[in-house]
Amino acid sequence: MTISAESQTESQTGSQTGSRTGSQAADEVLRPHAEDAFAEELAVLAAQDDRPRPARWRLSPWAVATYLLGGTLPDGTVISPKYVGPRRIVEVAVTTLATDRALLLLGVPGTAKTWVSEHLAAAVSGDSTLLVQGTAGTPEEAIRYGWNYAQLLANGPSRDALVPSPVMRAMADGMTARVEELTRIPADVQDTLITILSEKTLPIPELGQEVQAVRGFNLIATANDRDRGVNDLSSALRRRFNTVVLPLPASVEDEVDIVSRRVDQVGRALELPSAPDGMDEIRRVVTVFRELRDGVTADGRTKVKSPSGTLSTAEAISVVTNGLALSAHFGDGVLRSSDVAAGILGAVVRDPAADRVVWQEYLEAVVRERDGWKDFYRACREVSA
Ligand SMILES: Nc1ncnc2c1ncn2[C@@H]1O[C@H](COP(=O)(O)OP(=O)(O)OP(=O)(O)O)[C@@H](O)[C@H]1O
Ligand SMILES: [Mg+2]
Repeated sequence: MTISAESQTESQTGSQTGSRTGSQAADEVLRPHAEDAFAEELAVLAAQDDRPRPARWRLSPWAVATYLLGGTLPDGTVISPKYVGPRRIVEVAVTTLATDRALLLLGVPGTAKTWVSEHLAAAVSGDSTLLVQGTAGTPEEAIRYGWNYAQLLANGPSRDALVPSPVMRAMADGMTARVEELTRIPADVQDTLITILSEKTLPIPELGQEVQAVRGFNLIATANDRDRGVNDLSSALRRRFNTVVLPLPASVEDEVDIVSRRVDQVGRALELPSAPDGMDEIRRVVTVFRELRDGVTADGRTKVKSPSGTLSTAEAISVVTNGLALSAHFGDGVLRSSDVAAGILGAVVRDPAADRVVWQEYLEAVVRERDGWKDFYRACREVSA
C-alpha cells in the first residue's frame, strides 16, 4: 500500500471499468488512513528497525514512538512528527499496548486522542480501521458480533452466518482494535469489554464456540472528559485500562507548530495553494484561542472571560483552513486577518447572547490595544457588526 503511480493507474483503470469497489488509491480518497498516508515512513522505519518487536507488531515500541514523535533515522531519513507533546506520554502509551492492559486516551476535546489512537494502530498493526464508534446507541453486536440474517434463517447459526465486529477480528488476527468515545456507550454494553480484556476471549454461545485473542491483540479506547465524566466507566472496566491523559499544547509555539503542520496537510489534500506568509495569522488565531481558553492574556496582565465553547487546537486548525480557502478563492492567495476573522467569530460565539458579550469585551479590551493588530481589530469589527 504505497502512494505510487502504480496504484494511481490501477484506480484510473478501475473507474473506467467501474469495477473497483475496494480501497481507493491513497491520493484519490479525501482522507487516507494513517497507514496509507504515511506508508513510506512506516516502510523505512520497519526496514531500519532492528530492536525486538512484540508478537505481530510491525515495528518495535521504539520505532512506534519515533513514528509518532518524529525524528531522524541513522541513514538520515526524517520522520515527521504526528503528535506534538511530552515524549513520556507517547512512551507510556506505546508500552501499554505491549502489555496485557488496554490503553485509554483521555482528555478535553481536540487534544488529538482520536489522532493518536489512529496513528498508534497504524504503526503497531499496520491497520487503523478496526474501529468501533461509540455512541449512546452502540449495541453489543458492534463490540461482539452480529448475524447475517439471510444466512441465519436459511442455514441456522454457523460461522458463515456470523458477522464479526472489528474487535473480534482484531482478537482473531492479533491486531489493534479501537473504540472511540467509550464513555458515550451505555454502561451494560461497555461491560461487554470486560471479558474480552480480562479473559482475552469472546464466547459465541449460539455455536458453543469462542474466539480467543491471539498475541498482538490489544485495544485503544478514547474518551472525552468534557462530554460526560469517566465515572461512567465502571470500575471493573477501568481497571483493565491504563489511562493516559493527553494535555492541551503547553506553549503558543507548540500550538502554532501543530496548527501549521496540520493546515499544510489538510490544505494539500484540498488542493489549496499554500500560503507562504500565513504564519502571522496562525499565531494570531492561536493566541486568541489560548487567551480566551485560559481566561487571561498571554502576558498575564489582563483577565478575560472565557466563552462557552472549547476553542480547541482542532478548531484553530479549521479556522485557519477555512481562511486559506477564502483567500485562495476570493482573495489574493495570501492569508489575511479578514480571512480568519469570520471563522474566529464562529468558533468563539457559540451561545449568541453570552458569548457575544465575552467576544466584544475581549475585542475592545485586548485586541484593540495591541500593537500590530489594527487590521485584525478592524476585520473582527466588520464581521461582528
Ligand atoms: N498535540 C497535538 N499534536 C498533533 N496534533 C494535534 C495535537 N493536538 C491536536 N492536534 C490536531 O487536532 C486535530 C483534532 O484532534 P482529534 O480529533 O484527534 O481530537 P480528539 O481529542 O479526538 O477530540 P474529540 O474529543 O473532539 O474527539 C487533529 O487533526 C490533530 O492533528
Ligand atoms: Mg476524538
